[in-house]
Amino acid sequence: MNGAAERATKAFVAEHRADPDAVWSAPGRVNLIGEHTDYNDGYVFPFALPHRTAVATRRRDDGLLTIATHGSDGALQRAGAVSLEALEPGEPGGWANYPAGVAWALRESGVTLPGADLVIAGDVPTGAGLSSSAALECATALALLDTAGRALDGPEAPEVMDVARWTRRAENDFVGAPTGLLDQTASLRCEPAHALFFDIRSGDTAQVPFDAAGSELEVLVVDTRANHSHSESGYGDRRRGCEQAAELLGVPALRDVTAAELDSSLRELPERLRPLVRHVVTENDRVLETLRRLRRGELTEVGELLTASHRSLRDDYRVSCEELDVAVEAALESGALGARMTGGGFGGSAIALVSSELRPRTERAVSEAFERRGFTAPRLFTTVPSSGAG
Ligand code: ADP
Ligand code: GAL
Repeated sequence: MNGAAERATKAFVAEHRADPDAVWSAPGRVNLIGEHTDYNDGYVFPFALPHRTAVATRRRDDGLLTIATHGSDGALQRAGAVSLEALEPGEPGGWANYPAGVAWALRESGVTLPGADLVIAGDVPTGAGLSSSAALECATALALLDTAGRALDGPEAPEVMDVARWTRRAENDFVGAPTGLLDQTASLRCEPAHALFFDIRSGDTAQVPFDAAGSELEVLVVDTRANHSHSESGYGDRRRGCEQAAELLGVPALRDVTAAELDSSLRELPERLRPLVRHVVTENDRVLETLRRLRRGELTEVGELLTASHRSLRDDYRVSCEELDVAVEAALESGALGARMTGGGFGGSAIALVSSELRPRTERAVSEAFERRGFTAPRLFTTVPSSGAG
């Protein structure tokens, strides 16, 4: 049992004076490359973090859902019991919207839930762009499906991609964040030692070996701890811009614009939409090139693609921020092979691909650059591709 599952179990027993029927857990993720491409029907390339969120559950037969979360301070926060039948967006509010939204999305998608007690515990950093929300949604979905006799490892198991769509629906229509399918798919489908290439439109996936340690490389995560308040409107604005551009170009999504057509397509668009399209088209191309290089075992050569992705997100898509830029530049100056922001941006985390030998120097360089700028000290850790939900 992983640490999060153990904590969820202990907290469940303390709260309900009974063992849970089951514990499901799901990881956070980093996206290696392929940013702001998911809602454009493009390509993404995430891997799972070892950090997980676990949900301990016991079935109830009275149609009620109780939810509690075990915080890092050891205290349990409880959301009062809600009726599954009466659940509607807007209630119960706050953090409990994520698990309640999943119950709502399952119900709206035709899954009959009997009722459940849920106790949550986890160690995915929250609000750091590492998908703690998707980890919580996916672990909740698997726990609730289990109470409905549809456990992921049982005879009535749902399709994993249906679970991804249900949890995304919770995030979009209950929590109210208009995100794509990247985070939930990563949390559900990633495998240890692999990055997950995922073509959003076709649904095709490939587990691609990603063995940094074998090449004496490491992936360093820099949680900048910058949380920018305009992130939600910024995300929605970019998304609408992409949809407008696709409409003007007469294509279903920006995925349909190839790199070869980019220049002529840009000429058809108003000035303000051009950088958005340039980012999405070149980013999709970088994901495909990353796939080719990883398949040839050229991990070192992926570094420059990461850096090009960051520059495109910074200059064209304009979703970076000072802290992310400082982290990336300090990492590169200290000898990292490549670095970029990961996730939605406007704060959150960056990743750097760095040799094991230079990694301590990169960590120092990033910390010192933050100190010089008077930023809050970043949280730094190295990571390896880990297991998906289970
Ligand atoms: P990210 O998904 O990048 O971590 P978000 O802001 O989208 O950031 O989601 C973070 C939110 O998810 C938290 O503020 C909290 O409401 C909820 N959340 C994540 N993990 C937990 C947890 N273990 N218990 C309760 N709520 C959680
Ligand atoms: C995340 C969002 C994902 C994806 C990503 C940018 O915040 O949840 O769906 O769009 O931003 O690549």
